[in-house]
Amino acid sequence: MSTDLHVVLGASGGTGSAVVGELVARGHRVRAVSRAGDADGPGWTQAGVERLAADVSTPEGAKAAAAGAAVVYHAAQPAYTRWPQEFPAMNAAVTEGATSAGAKLVFADNLYMYGPRALAGGAKLTEDTPQLATDHKGRTRIEMARRLLAAHAEGRVRVALGRSSDYYGPRGTATRAGDTVMPAVVAGKTARWPGPLDVPHTFSYLPDMARALVTLGERDEADGQVWHLPAAEPLTARRFLQLAFDAAGHPAKIARVPALAIRAAALFVPFIREAADVGYQQELPFVVDDAKFQRAFGPFATTPHPEAVAATVAWFRDRQAG
Ligand SMILES: NC(=O)c1ccc[n+]([C@@H]2O[C@H](COP(=O)([O-])OP(=O)(O)OC[C@H]3O[C@@H](n4cnc5c(N)ncnc54)[C@H](OP(=O)(O)O)[C@@H]3O)[C@@H](O)[C@H]2O)c1
Repeated sequence: MSTDLHVVLGASGGTGSAVVGELVARGHRVRAVSRAGDADGPGWTQAGVERLAADVSTPEGAKAAAAGAAVVYHAAQPAYTRWPQEFPAMNAAVTEGATSAGAKLVFADNLYMYGPRALAGGAKLTEDTPQLATDHKGRTRIEMARRLLAAHAEGRVRVALGRSSDYYGPRGTATRAGDTVMPAVVAGKTARWPGPLDVPHTFSYLPDMARALVTLGERDEADGQVWHLPAAEPLTARRFLQLAFDAAGHPAKIARVPALAIRAAALFVPFIREAADVGYQQELPFVVDDAKFQRAFGPFATTPHPEAVAATVAWFRDRQAG
């Protein structure tokens, strides 16, 4: 690589801010991009992180964002209710931006493309699991991944896809393990989980995700492939919340939002409707296999959940206090 500039799109979001933090820790030169251009984090200014305001859903914005980059980490996303309408165009623009810079593109992907049939019989999700989602967000993710890998195969741009499950962690607000429950946990009130409490689920920890995504950015062997990013062992929502209450120093008060209440709210609230569409991810065991990543780049030690949850609770407590 002729440059050491690493560009993070969506740098004010959960994933993007963790990736900036990881890049700073590794001593890379970083540009943090969001529409507002105000992404910030601990030590970023001292580390010389450049902030850029750019709309990466346009080719002009994406090109400006990616200019001079060695690696572009794509962790920007449109509103959850607008993926089919806006995400493919954003990805096309970002691909164009990375191509024009001659940069490698690492996409922070999720697991919506596999769909409920892939989980039959408690099967773990691997990179070879057939992509059978039929809901519109899942189909959007299938098509976006196909186009990104096609761009790589055509030799237009080097691409690596890093997939992870629902995340939690410092700055991980817009997730069910974030603002949905953490304020209640910190205050010692009842945490109401929007789904079953006793089904095993892989939860990804943002700093682990960021370490793995940066590994994909740094390693040529990652190119042209899909990778499931390492996460600690699956656990139930009840166990996750128990750990959170333990860390907060409060007795656990855990409840499930009744399925009927979710169905009723979904009639009126678009975001809840979209989340309910992929409710199978909570209702069925949802377990990710990271063996391929471990074989290629491991051993990669993930942060134990008790430690990771404690760091997450501390961040939410500080935010609430300050
Ligand atoms: N949430 C999860 O649990 C999870 C798990 C696995 C994978 N993922 C995937 O990881 C990726 C990132 O998700 P996230 O939850 O970390 O994102 P997020 O917290 O919602 O943050 C999105 C970021 O994108 C920026 N952004 C939005 N539109 C933009 C535009 N047109 N131009 C430039 N920046 C724009 C936002 O900043 P501004 O609003 O200031 O522009 C923000 O920095 C997504 O593909 C997501 O599906 C998420």
